[in-house]
Amino acid sequence: MFLTLEGIDGSGKSSQAKLLAASLRERGHSVVLTREPGGSPGAEEIRKLLVEGDPNRWSPETEILLFYAARRDHVERTILPALERGDIVVSDRFADSTRVYQGAVRSDLRETVDAIHEHMIGFEPDRTFIIDMDPEAALSRGLARKSGEDRFEDFGLDFQHRLRDGFKSLAKSAPERCLLIDGNRPLDEISPKILSLTLEMLE
Ligand code: ADP
Ligand code: TYD
Repeated sequence: MFLTLEGIDGSGKSSQAKLLAASLRERGHSVVLTREPGGSPGAEEIRKLLVEGDPNRWSPETEILLFYAARRDHVERTILPALERGDIVVSDRFADSTRVYQGAVRSDLRETVDAIHEHMIGFEPDRTFIIDMDPEAALSRGLARKSGEDRFEDFGLDFQHRLRDGFKSLAKSAPERCLLIDGNRPLDEISPKILSLTLEMLE
């Protein structure tokens, strides 16, 4: 089973991905916890080009190609081998981030993203949890980390509002796969919801 977490910057995806992986492991499942951009040695190298530096260092078109170069390597080296072993894969972001960030918000290139996805990846997660929350709170949480990986946070608050709308409309367009999760709550109120939805699927 292939699960992904999506949402705006600072919405709590990586915290929830970690908690979900730990709970599934406690129940005896073999879990690969991974992330994008990154998740394989080559893709982690490409990640640095994408998350650091000036917001306008890449055009949206170049950015799509870099994210897909990283994604193809991640899929080849990490995701598919894990799924073939029968592991559960939990990924902090995947293709929906490109559909929303590059395909809908940085530019109107959704069809281009879908065409590249079809040619280079050709499958979707079994379930995607989209953590929805107030952009102002999420942005201040994200920037408070001082991670040095703030290239997308540096596009500003209005960008985060447009991302939130983009993720909401994506969830509406793929209701069989995407579930919106309310992220404006304490960590330990969100994680049981995600776990129970996952356990339902496993049954
Ligand atoms: P993302 O991966 O979406 O950027 P993180 O999981 O890294 O988000 O969370 C960003 C920051 O917010 C971290 O410092 C994390 O500890 C904190 N955080 C995450 N979820 C919550 C929550 N539900 N309530 C309060 N703080 C949270
Ligand atoms: P991430 O480390 O998950 O950031 P955060 O913890 O702030 O949510 O992801 C790095 C950044 O890359 C994030 O700002 C979103 C962006 N991104 C895209 O624009 N397109 C993509 O396809 C992916 C996977 C990420």
